[in-house]
Amino acid sequence: MKVSSLTLVNFRNYEKLKVEFSDKVNVFIGKNAQGKTNLLESIFYCCIGKSFKSIKDKDIIRWGAEEGYIGLNLEKKYREVKIEVKFSKIKKKTILINSLPIKKIGDLIGEINVVFFSPSELKLVRESPEERRKFMDIDISQTNKRYFYLLSRYEKILQNRNKLLKTAGSLNYVKETVDIWDRALVQTAHKIAFEREKFISSIAPFTKMAQNYLSGGKEEVELKYVCGCGVKLDEKFEENMAKLLRKNLEKDFKLGYTSIGVHRDDLDIFLNGVEVKSFGSQGQQRTVALSLKLAELESMFAKTGEYPILLLDDVFSELDSERQERLLKFATRTQTFITCTDEKKISGKIFKIENGKII
Ligand SMILES: Nc1ncnc2c1ncn2[C@@H]1O[C@H](COP(=O)(O)OP(=O)(O)O)[C@@H](O)[C@H]1O
Ligand SMILES: [Mg+2]
Repeated sequence: MKVSSLTLVNFRNYEKLKVEFSDKVNVFIGKNAQGKTNLLESIFYCCIGKSFKSIKDKDIIRWGAEEGYIGLNLEKKYREVKIEVKFSKIKKKTILINSLPIKKIGDLIGEINVVFFSPSELKLVRESPEERRKFMDIDISQTNKRYFYLLSRYEKILQNRNKLLKTAGSLNYVKETVDIWDRALVQTAHKIAFEREKFISSIAPFTKMAQNYLSGGKEEVELKYVCGCGVKLDEKFEENMAKLLRKNLEKDFKLGYTSIGVHRDDLDIFLNGVEVKSFGSQGQQRTVALSLKLAELESMFAKTGEYPILLLDDVFSELDSERQERLLKFATRTQTFITCTDEKKISGKIFKIENGKII
């Protein structure tokens, strides 16, 4: 799977751009605020159907313009695919695959798999469990569409249950009516927990390998999936979770929301035996976040037989030169897009970016 070319019209600070890529390493070089990250964002958008920045679609359109456009040509194993996104100030965006508009984002997912890394991905290791759930969800969804739909189903059931808890007025009424949501909740929670656990065990050995590699054999990383349902992931999962939901019902009624479930899941990360979130140095945390991303590459390759594309935003300024070199070597396994502010020793197709233009 390779991105062969990209076309932008009124996307961010790009008025018009047409560019062809190398199927190995592509390097975007330029000073700050020239549009390097914007290029990665446009590629990412075509893979996932949204930005890696949490922004409104309208903000993507170049200031002063009414409409914006991204077109991405892909070479897949047996066919070529064109993905297009059309943004408008007044309408919802449309996404087209080979000129046919898709009905839902799920139709785009998996067309082209991507792994994105930037310094702010440190939040994956350091910040709230939500970041780690997002990491699991984006990865699993890319190779498992059923999971993608499962998540939105879970979200809806949870919202309904929480609405009942908040608006019912009496605990008795909740007790009488909550069963229908609980049954649906435990079933979906079970499937999601199962997939997340499977995912974590599949990337664990790759993460270990990547961390070992990047740290020159000094650091041993371990991952542990932590289920927020409060019960063991065995054949009695649904029964036990349903019981626990019942047990917590009075508490949840007072809180006005559901206190257990896969929406409370987390991923514990240990480095040389201690929790990296609380005890790792900044550099170690950064390397762990990167290892997780490199592990994604390998696990997707194991699952699909193809490497996803790799987007690396500004990562080199943050790593020591040894880790930089090792990362670069790793990056040659797949088509990679790298941004940086100076040329360094990166070999690849070089694009100089200045004020929304390639010069
Ligand atoms: N919708 C937009 N229209 C025009 N310019 C934009 C828009 N959104 C962001 N920009 C500009 O893009 C530039 C940032 O681009 P970015 O890709 O983040 O830079 P960098 O090269 O540092 O990665 C900023 O100058 C910002 O003002
Ligand atoms: Mg940038």
